[in-house]
Amino acid sequence: MFRPRIIGFVCNWALPKRIEIPSFPRMKIYPKMQVVQVMCVGRIDPVIVLDTFAKGADGVLLVGCPLPDCHFVKGNIQAENKTKILKKLLSLTGLEPERLQLEWAYATEIEPFSTIVDAFRNHIIKLGQSPLVGENSDEKILSNILAAKNAVADFSLRVLTGREEELTEAMNAYGKRIPQEEFDDLLDEIVNREFLRHKIHLLTSQKLLSVKEIATIVNHRPALILRQIADMTSKHMIALDHVEETTPLYKALEVK
Ligand code: FES
Repeated sequence: MFRPRIIGFVCNWALPKRIEIPSFPRMKIYPKMQVVQVMCVGRIDPVIVLDTFAKGADGVLLVGCPLPDCHFVKGNIQAENKTKILKKLLSLTGLEPERLQLEWAYATEIEPFSTIVDAFRNHIIKLGQSPLVGENSDEKILSNILAAKNAVADFSLRVLTGREEELTEAMNAYGKRIPQEEFDDLLDEIVNREFLRHKIHLLTSQKLLSVKEIATIVNHRPALILRQIADMTSKHMIALDHVEETTPLYKALEVK
């Protein structure tokens, strides 16, 4: 029978203290998932979540304190925003976004915690083993996860990650706030763009490629790829290596 490998990043204040589990300093083994205890679910770096999938987790469960009870004020709200971005990125990689879930629990109540874990475990059993596990691990998805990791570590997504509430509810310097719908559209656009750029960067770091070749691999129009390359060139992410006959070939530059 399939025994899913589930990693839970659980806020210290949401992890029931009565759970009897052998523990290392920050890693606990709950019978049905490995628990990484964190001080606040809002502090979890999205890069670590994507890395956990890359290393073969079938599912990742984030558990924090229910709104509005975060001990660090807005950590749970930030975790909601990060999860939203991570799910968007996962859907671009080809890995099911449902493999990631954010839930709330109180440390004082053991029952809801075990119900959450059981429900998530059943859900992952239905989804089956991650395509990144085993000998036939899906190389395309793995490379997409790497591109997503680089995208989420980059400046554009870092500034948006966890700041949704601040940007949609607080007034900016001009006395305006960004309407939620507008923010969601903007977020979609930036996530798509950053993922594509980092995918192009990854591909051209492995091999010199033309616009047409990149467009074929990532399944986008050459005009869109050309536009991204122009922008990436100005940001020193990519450069023209040489022209072969009449075809320019590009190579990735090291991103500092
Ligand atoms: Fe628990 Fe922030 S302290 S979610």
